[in-house]
Formats: sequence, C-alpha cells, structure tokens
Amino acid sequence: MSEFLPKVSVKPVLVQNEIHPYYQDTEVIDFIHGNGIVVQAWYPLGGRGYQKELLNDPVLADIAKKHGKTIVQVILRWHLQRNVVAIPGSSNQAHIAENHDIFDFELSAEDMGRIASLNRDEKHDWY
Ligand SMILES: NC(=O)c1ccc[n+]([C@@H]2O[C@H](COP(=O)([O-])OP(=O)(O)OC[C@H]3O[C@@H](n4cnc5c(N)ncnc54)[C@H](OP(=O)(O)O)[C@@H]3O)[C@@H](O)[C@H]2O)c1
Repeated sequence: MSEFLPKVSVKPVLVQNEIHPYYQDTEVIDFIHGNGIVVQAWYPLGGRGYQKELLNDPVLADIAKKHGKTIVQVILRWHLQRNVVAIPGSSNQAHIAENHDIFDFELSAEDMGRIASLNRDEKHDWY
C-alpha cells in the first residue's frame, strides 16, 4: 500500500483483510485507516473450519458471560469498536439474528485489552 497509494489518483474505498481475535493485524488496520480507507474483516469469526477453538475461547467466554451475550456477539462487537466492518457468513436464521443483536452493549477498555492479548498472528488462510 505504501508503494501503491502514491501512484494512484483514485484511492481504494475499502480493503478486506483477514481479521479475527487470533489474527488482529492491528498495525495494518491503523495504517489503512490512517489513509482514510475502510477496513473490512475477511473471516470475521475465524473462518469456516477454523472456529472450534476461537468460539470456545475462555477469555471471550468470560467477557460474553459478563455482558449476557455470546462469544460470537463479543467478537462482532470487538470488530465494530475497532471500526472494522464485519459481515459474518451464516446460513442459519438464528445465527443471523444473533449476529445483528450487538448494539445494546459496549466492551470496556479492559475487555478490549483482554481481547487484544489473544492475538497470536494465527492466519487461517492465504491467497
Ligand atoms: N475475499 C475473499 O476471498 C473472501 C474469502 C472468504 C471470506 N470472505 C469474507 O469473509 C466474510 C465471511 O467469511 P466466512 O463465512 O468464510 O467466515 P466467518 O464469517 O468467519 O465464519 C462463518 C462461519 O461462522 C458460523 N457462524 C456465523 N454466525 C454464527 C453464530 N452466531 N454462532 C455460531 N456460528 C456462527 C457460520 O456457520 P452457520 O452458517 O451455521 O451460521 C459459518 O460456518 C464475508 O464478508 C466474505 O466476504 C472473503
């Protein structure tokens, strides 16, 4: 991006990159946001086939319990509070409703810090 952006007259509006609590990519997000570009999460819930551990993570479970929410709702709220667009994939009607129900609670700075500590730079896919 640092080589590409100076060469173009029309900036990309949005960049999609793998982002979930085990692969947070914070520096990249800050860089892209700093250039006025929207960031969207690719694999916002860890991605199909890679979710068993993430969706049972004890830290996320503890935060979810505190807020009376599910782990998935905590992850989606975390994306929202980092200004990252998240469009989770689902073919399950109950999951889709659950995934929309994230606007009545807020993660505290402490919650956000605990989730930040889960980063392991664990990328689940390459393209
Ligand atoms: N650019 C690319 O090449 C590319 C490639 C892959 C993905 N993406 C992007 O990433 C996003 C989605 O990717 P993805 O669907 O592969 O990964 P994902 O959103 O990280 O995970 C989808 C999985 O999460 C499950 N899920 C969704 N809501 C749930 C809930 N409330 N509780 C439990 N499980 C839940 C789904 O199962 P159910 O169906 O059972 O709910 C599905 O198996 C899209 O925005 C897409 O554009 C982009």
